[in-house]
Order: sequence, then C-alpha cells, then structure tokens
Amino acid sequence: MMLNEKIQKIFPRFADIPEILLKDIPCIQTGYLLNGEIHSWDGPRQEVFSPVWLADDTGQAPFFIGEYPLLTETEAFQALDAAVDAYDHGRGMWPTLSVAERIDHMERFIFRMIEVKDRVVRFLMWEVGKSLQDSEKEFDRTIKYINDTLEALKDLDRISSSFTIEEDIIGQIRRAPMGVVLCMGPFNYPLNETFTTLIPALVMGNTVILKPPKHGALLYAPLLAAFCDVFPKGVINIIYGEGKKMIPPLMATGKINVLGLIGTSKTANALKKQHPNPNRLRCVLGLEAKNPAIVLKGADLDLAVRECVLGCLSFNGQRCTALKILFVEASIADAFLERFAKAINALPFGMPWQEGVFVTPVAEKGKTDYLQELVSDAIIKGAKVVNADGATTLGSFFFPAVLYPVHHQMRVYHEEQFGPVIPVLSFDSISEPVEYMINSSYGQQVSIFGSDPDQIARLIDPLVNQVCRVNINSQCQRGPDTFPFTGRKDSAEGTLSVSDALRVFSIRTLVAAKKTGLNKQIITDIVRDHKSKFLATDFIL
Ligand code: G3H
Repeated sequence: MMLNEKIQKIFPRFADIPEILLKDIPCIQTGYLLNGEIHSWDGPRQEVFSPVWLADDTGQAPFFIGEYPLLTETEAFQALDAAVDAYDHGRGMWPTLSVAERIDHMERFIFRMIEVKDRVVRFLMWEVGKSLQDSEKEFDRTIKYINDTLEALKDLDRISSSFTIEEDIIGQIRRAPMGVVLCMGPFNYPLNETFTTLIPALVMGNTVILKPPKHGALLYAPLLAAFCDVFPKGVINIIYGEGKKMIPPLMATGKINVLGLIGTSKTANALKKQHPNPNRLRCVLGLEAKNPAIVLKGADLDLAVRECVLGCLSFNGQRCTALKILFVEASIADAFLERFAKAINALPFGMPWQEGVFVTPVAEKGKTDYLQELVSDAIIKGAKVVNADGATTLGSFFFPAVLYPVHHQMRVYHEEQFGPVIPVLSFDSISEPVEYMINSSYGQQVSIFGSDPDQIARLIDPLVNQVCRVNINSQCQRGPDTFPFTGRKDSAEGTLSVSDALRVFSIRTLVAAKKTGLNKQIITDIVRDHKSKFLATDFIL
C-alpha cells in the first residue's frame, strides 16, 4: 500500500482496539485532592478526547476518553490555604520532619505508584498519543528518578550531618524548604517532567499545589489515593481546571514561594508579573527551545541521519529538546537530504499500541492545522517538501515533512514548531548557524555532527556560551537525568537534574555559635539527646 493510502486508513474502528486498552475508558474523574481528602466535584467537567481518532463509515472523529473537574478559583484558594497551613511558616509537621522520615514517606509513595502503573501508562498513551512502549518508559524513568532523588538526598544529608568550625565559629549548614510550591508540568511528559519538580519540592520539605497539564490530567486519577494516604494533610494538593483562570489569582496572593513550571516563557512571565513581591518568588522553569543540528562535511552521514531522525521526530518532535532546525554544509546537503528523507519515509507510523510504532497522532487540538500553516508559508516563500507524501494529514495525524531550502523569512525558521515539521538549511560558512544561535531567543542545546576534532573544538568553545549542552554526533536530549538540564535566554531558569533539583527547591540555612565553653555545652547537649532535627549529627545509612 502507498504511504498516502495507508495514512487515509490510519485510524482504527472501535472494534479494532485491543480490549485491554479500553479498560477504565472513559474515565470520568471527579476527585481532586485538597487538605488530605479526596473531594468529589459535581460542577462542570472538561471533556477529554484522545489524539487517537476513531474511524467509522462516515470518516473519523476524536475519541472521547474521559472528563476531569473544572474547578474554580474558590477551590484553588482552598488548595493554597491547605498548603500554607501545612507549611505553617516552616513550623508544620512536614517541613520539620527529619530527612529520613520524609524519605520514608516517599518510599511508601513509590510502592503505591507502582501498584497503579498499568492504569497510569494506559491513560498516558490515550491522553497524549505517546506509544505504549514510550509511555511505559516514561513511567519507569519517573520511578528511577524518584529513587535516584532519594539517594542524592541521602548523600546531601550525610554531608550536612557534621559541624564546620571556621574562625572559632561552629556551624551546621543544611538545606531547608522554601515554603509553598506551585507545580505545573507539560503535556509531552505529563508524568515525568511534572514529577521532576514535584518530587524534589516535596522531599525537601515544601508543601505543594499541583495542577496537572491539560493533556495528561486523567493519569493523575489513579495516583490521587496514593498521594492522599501517604502524605500528611495539606502537603500535596492536586487541583484541575483552566490554568488561565485559576493560577494568576493564586500568584497574586503573594503566598506562592516557588513556581515550578515546565511550559512557555509567555505563561511564566505572565505569572511572575502577578506576584506582588517578585523578590520572594523563586522560579524553576523549563521553557521553549529551538535546538539546531549542525551537520559538517566529513560527518558520518548514516550516523547523522539516524540521530537527526531521533532528535527531530521522537514523540513526533513534541519534546522541548527536539532538534527543530537542521543546518547542513552545502557540499553534503543533497546527500544528507536524500538519506534523511528516505529514513523518514521508512518510519513505522500508526496507533500508539502498535508494535514498533514511531510516528503517532499529535497531541494538541488544532495542531495539524498549525503545522500545515508552517508548511504552506515555507512553500510560498520557496521551500519544497523533500520527502514524498510529507505533510499528508488526516485528522490529528500529520506525516513528518522535511522542508528545504528554508530561510529567515519563513515562520518555521523562527517558531518552535513542537511537531513533525523539519526545516533544513544549507550553509557555506559556519558563521551562518552560529549567527542563527546568537540571534535566537532560545539557548538550550545544539548537536554538532562531524569527524574533524579541530573543527569541532573550534565550535565547542563559542557554543557552550550560547547554549547549555553541546552534543557531539548525538541528538539533543535531557537524559541521563543526573546531568544538569537547563538553558539560556527564554529556554529555562534554574537547573534541574537529580541533585540540582534538590538545591533549587531549598535554601541553605545554618546554625552558628562562637566556640565558647557554654555554646559547646549547649550544642553537645542538643545533639547527644536528639533535641533538634536540624542541629543533629544522625547519619543516614
Ligand atoms: O520536553 C522536554 C523533555 O525534557 C525532553 O526530555 O530529551 O529526555 O526526551 P528528553
């Protein structure tokens, strides 16, 4: 069957869907977690449709998979009050627990989370169209992230469990919580990326308000009971609804101490402006990016093509770290494009549950129209779709399109497409991609493909000051999660990684005393009799 014909038949009929995947679908989610109780919402709910459409004799239409509560400002304020009370100016039970006790809660949570893995993975697949295999990987990566975070926290605590004596002053330095954290994650990694801020925020002793993303909200339903049972009341509050309505009023109270947001700079800037005391707000942000690949002559073309396909199209290009523009040295542009187009057209595409599938329907409503606009704009201005049938669209499915030659007057040169459209430019002078990066609003990562160490070295030194990760002969990516993940300009604020995240959600604080006989006696007395959780030398084994 020709590619185009296959696309016309891409969506399944209801009867074609494996029965096991339809378990719990539709999920009518009414619960939300507030102050240690799962409340049931009987107000308006948001309908959820999967990126997987359903075919019938008349065509295809979005598949209804559930509903979640559309709470109002009132419930958002109740969640804030619960988090503020649980923190209680740092005097609450959670912020004053020992690190070992908080780790204990978190370990119990991991156990409960694993119990509901199947449901979370299924909802993840239905809600964002991520392949079943990658949805499972996202879940497992999240469990690993939590475990690694707990190990990193133990290390941090071990370092802090001794005294420092400098200039006749005794000090014990630890990291303490910041207060109330507002966590919001993105639709492309609705579980993993949300948890990369939520888990360190919680385990450092903060209290949290979590608003799941618009796509990727149902998957929190199976987790509500675990959060509710494991954490003391008010420590974690999970609210659903329209971010635009609920979140700005929360920020305007000035009671949010940390904003942990993986989203867009537009949202982050708008929210920051609401806070009456910006100096009291810490922001931990993962934002947009337009990571370029630079393919130099002398590069191993097979390897470059393989990595660029992964970089541009893993999860249909819906990754902040995706390669979103390719610069190829002019003398190898034709050879690169020929192999690249061939590799793309050979990619398995279809429904998320199909074995080995790579390209799946895109997650956001109206996204294929936007991608078509980018393609049309580029074509009008002189580009061609290089791969046969590229940009063929049916409902929410968009077959990847390679556009060449792209130039600065085209929208796709500037805009973060966050989808399967790949702009390619050829260059004669290396200054062209470098200038692109200098002028870009983003500064997350770059990939360089080449084989000449001198040439690559000459690029590394200026580029590490433009972005925060230079990848050699490898696609851009966040992992391993122990590596620092951040960006310059409009791409990020603060650094996330297993160990960095513990730092961004906490502040260094210390107890200090001049080394007098009296003070030595007081400190010895407190430590020996375990009178304080902060001033202590307990060593977590
Ligand atoms: O959307 C951005 C994610 O952090 C990307 O993570 O590079 O591991 O896919 P990844």
